[in-house]
Amino acid sequence: MNKIITRLLMIVVFALSAAAGLWFSIQQHKLANNQLPAPGSTATMRTFHSPTSFVAQIKNDPNAGEKIFMQFCAACHGQHASIDVNAPTIGNRRQWQGYQQLGTNKLVELASHGNGAMPARGGCFECNDDELREAIDYIISF
Ligand code: HEC
Repeated sequence: MNKIITRLLMIVVFALSAAAGLWFSIQQHKLANNQLPAPGSTATMRTFHSPTSFVAQIKNDPNAGEKIFMQFCAACHGQHASIDVNAPTIGNRRQWQGYQQLGTNKLVELASHGNGAMPARGGCFECNDDELREAIDYIISF
């Protein structure tokens, strides 16, 4: 008798959790649907990472190099890099010495192709060579 009650209880618990899961899933889909543009609308979904508009914003900005650095390079080259790939750190002359000897032209060329854990164009694919150069000049100015 006890066994039957236990089994019945288990069935009830499973059924309840399945129903709760289904309900939760429906709520989440409703939320997601609310964030989508209305059918036929020309609006696109908002994203917080929009490199194209970033690069447009820094045109003719005298601090473009610093801004590109903060936006794209600091994750690896910053003093408190959040991506640990042993990238030379900004301000560490000893680490940059060897690279600097290559000259800025060569560095721009290397950076544009990428090198090991260093992504092509430092991850700023929208940056042109001049912008890449400004970011590199900024990094090695310390
Ligand atoms: C995902 C991490 C990462 C990001 C993001 C990154 N770098 Fe690098 N970078 C590296 C690493 C690692 C090296 C060392 C590569 C080597 O010598 O093996 C490097 C090397 C370099 C060098 C030396 C030349 C070369 O390519 O080896 C330059 C110049 C440079 N980075 C510039 C930049 C600039 C400018 C940005 C941003 C626009 C950037 N990096 C973004 C990881 C990164």
